Amino acid sequence: MGIDSQEPSALEAEKRAAARASAMLVEDGMRVGLGTGSTVRYLLPALAERHLALRCVATSVATELLARQLGLSLEPFEALDALDIAIDGADQIAPDGWVIKGGGGAHTREKIVALAATRFVVIASSDKVVPALGPPVPLELLAFGLPATLRALGDARVRAGAPASPDGGVIADHYASFGDPAPFAVTLDATPGLVDHGLFPASMVSDVLVAHGDTVEHRHVG
Ligand code: 5RP
Repeated sequence: MGIDSQEPSALEAEKRAAARASAMLVEDGMRVGLGTGSTVRYLLPALAERHLALRCVATSVATELLARQLGLSLEPFEALDALDIAIDGADQIAPDGWVIKGGGGAHTREKIVALAATRFVVIASSDKVVPALGPPVPLELLAFGLPATLRALGDARVRAGAPASPDGGVIADHYASFGDPAPFAVTLDATPGLVDHGLFPASMVSDVLVAHGDTVEHRHVG
């Protein structure tokens, strides 16, 4: 926050601008996946104030609680098998549309929701745009055999102070350098004990909305 506590910082204002622009992509009657994080916190009121009839699925307890407070209609993801749109933040966004997510440890649920959505929209402030993705890559690991899984992964460590995921997973991060994220994602996917990782391919991403000051850049990706 700035000097005036009512005044959001420049980055907070960008998060809000991107989130509000994304809310305009949602149409009456849609099934909507709600991501997790500080950018998504600006999406929820922007959606609620449109008074649309929506069926929403939340990717975290924090998102679910706020969405309910704002009057959005939430359903468990056991009740729906597909979504029309999902909107979520990101930690890093590469020029080709690959993103890293999971700074809040919610990437497993976020990836399930993103894949189920016809349109997956990433929203962010300008600081999330990077020339190339790099470590850390968030991980969710099974508690069973955790030391062996960490050993197999190599340069991975449990995230200090991170609570278990809502599904009981251990949140960790991988610190190894990688160039092309695609083969690295394949390696991670093939590691037993790894529930999921925070590398999201461009093929999963439909749109990226990044705010630069007052202007929201809208890129169509996959
Ligand atoms: C949570 C996430 C978030 O979307 C990501 O960390 C971005 O968060 P924020 O909007 O607070 O910068 O992946 O697991």
